[in-house]
Amino acid sequence: MTGEARGDSLSYSARLPFEEARAGAVSRLPDLSGRGRDAAGKELLMCGIVGYTGQRQASRILVEGLKRLEYRGYDSAGIAVRKDETVKEGEAPLLVIKKKGKIAELRKAVPKDLPGNYGIGHTRWATHGGVTDVNAHPHLDTAGRVAIVHNGIIENYAPLKEMLENDGAVFASDTDSEVIAHLVAYHYEGDLESAVKAALRHLKGTYGIAAVHADEPGRIVGARNGSPLVIGVGDGEMLLASDVTALLAHTTSVVYLNDGEVVSMSPREFRISDRDDRAVDPKIDLVTWKLDAIEKEGFSSYMEKEICEQPESIARALSGRMDLEYGSAKLGGLELSKKELHAIERIRVIAAGTSWHAGLVGCQLMESVARLPAQAELASELRYRNPVVEPNSLYLAVSQSGETADTLYAMREIQRRGGSVLGVCNVVGSTIARESDGGIYVHSGPEIAVASTKAFTSQLAAFYLLTLSLARLHDMSHHEGDRFLKELKAVPEAVGRSLLLRDRIQAIAKRYAHHRDFLFLGRGLLYPIALEGALKLKEISYIHAEGYASGEIKHGPIALVSPETPSVFLVPNDHLREKTISNMREIKARGGPIIALAEEGDEDVAAIADEFIPVPAVETRFQPFVMVPPLQFFSYFCALERGCDVDQPRNLAKSVTVE
Ligand code: F6R
Repeated sequence: MTGEARGDSLSYSARLPFEEARAGAVSRLPDLSGRGRDAAGKELLMCGIVGYTGQRQASRILVEGLKRLEYRGYDSAGIAVRKDETVKEGEAPLLVIKKKGKIAELRKAVPKDLPGNYGIGHTRWATHGGVTDVNAHPHLDTAGRVAIVHNGIIENYAPLKEMLENDGAVFASDTDSEVIAHLVAYHYEGDLESAVKAALRHLKGTYGIAAVHADEPGRIVGARNGSPLVIGVGDGEMLLASDVTALLAHTTSVVYLNDGEVVSMSPREFRISDRDDRAVDPKIDLVTWKLDAIEKEGFSSYMEKEICEQPESIARALSGRMDLEYGSAKLGGLELSKKELHAIERIRVIAAGTSWHAGLVGCQLMESVARLPAQAELASELRYRNPVVEPNSLYLAVSQSGETADTLYAMREIQRRGGSVLGVCNVVGSTIARESDGGIYVHSGPEIAVASTKAFTSQLAAFYLLTLSLARLHDMSHHEGDRFLKELKAVPEAVGRSLLLRDRIQAIAKRYAHHRDFLFLGRGLLYPIALEGALKLKEISYIHAEGYASGEIKHGPIALVSPETPSVFLVPNDHLREKTISNMREIKARGGPIIALAEEGDEDVAAIADEFIPVPAVETRFQPFVMVPPLQFFSYFCALERGCDVDQPRNLAKSVTVE
């Protein structure tokens, strides 16, 4: 999805095959890239990279950039800079400072006046390999002349390490990444780019890498295979990062690297080539995100800010896409003609987590409104099945980050079988966006908090638009289309009103945050919203929560009901309302506390519930939009009550780039 025009149309750039063949063997070390996975293959690393070369003080820019990336991973961080041009005999020319803990720890350790105007930095998040200063990146080779940072997993690191040790290399850390520094040093003959390329030929796994060499002042070499990297083109300076948020303070001109590409940059120029050393023409994109979109702007956390931004972010997702003349939607980025859209016989959504929940809502809508059979699949399941890819099916890969490995690999599997996959992404230029065959950007703006909030409602907005567009090709009349659009247009304002429930929800959260278990129950379109409410509570406040279809509780979960286990009911305002009220009575009769979200003025629900949360009145099929913000606030305030870090919950990372 490069060269994106705001609003409706996206142009998805040509796809680069993932499994590009490695270039011929040039290495003196045997190629072990085909060897099996070992313990390092289970390591989870979802980290951030930043690099800078220019005239300014590198350390300051690197630490600042890492701060912006902290949301991706945050158990340790480090930088490597060239001390200065005149290094004394016997002194290591590259200075590496790395610390476990938050970026604040690193900041304290970096001298304010540290010289050097190029370098690389990294934030690390690991569950294996020990969170220590030594395991933090950057890693050096034995002589301290090469420094590298790495995102991803090197699956064959163990045999490589053994060979390099036999060759005299001395390893300092327990990480898989360190082999890259030693491999680059092994191949170095005066040209860092060639040495990096030679090193890559040994590697099996995924990587985004940045490397510097003490003998090549001002040069940074980056490479990508399955882990994003983006070049920031500045005025007399160049940057490299795993995420555009680290670049925004310095430039909005960026080039997204594709898998298999290597960049060599100095302050005034950069060159991209593939592993066969063929030059690649760079395509410079302009990032439209503003710097203030990645600041907290007076909010106490990103999550709070992002919850509160939803009226605007939904409006952005809808902007320019409502076709008032024909009572339909305009989604130019789909790159499908009306005829092709009309020929679609079924829809399949592939996604993970919150994006999957958006897909569940979308599929129900497309089935009930556009009358197309639709199913949302967990990407992590689909990719290991042997899926039948039927003709005339449309696949939608839904992902906020556009980098989720499960979704990406599932998408590639479908494409490999001849299926076409559209992306529904937030991050412009992300891998899913670029590799899909067209799609919809949801335009929620940067989402920094780990828990997805505003991206979810923007994904919903995209599904409502797509539903309308498909429905208008089939049974929906112009008049019905107009009505649907009218309701959709009113959504941002209704969501704004649901945010006003904040104080009431904070008070409820105070009373309930000590509970260990919760049930979240909904029917129809509100069933996926119940799943989403439960997921938010789990990930942010570490309270165990189960999402269920209300009609299912009598088939098992009702055994969990007790005064200690509150149930959060999402009550629809249609024919399913009565049935949901009966379910509430069943819970009540068994002593279970009830928190109910229902349309304002619903006295019956208010009378049964222990806590009543009156949501704005909207047409039934738009209720997901007004039910979600109160649930987001509920998890948020429960988390605060329990002293949890809402933006960076334990064990989680924003982009899950490993399976
Ligand atoms: C939940 C959450 C995750 C993500 C999931 C998919 O708040 O953030 O469940 O939704 O990891 O991520 P994307 O949408 O980036 O593919």
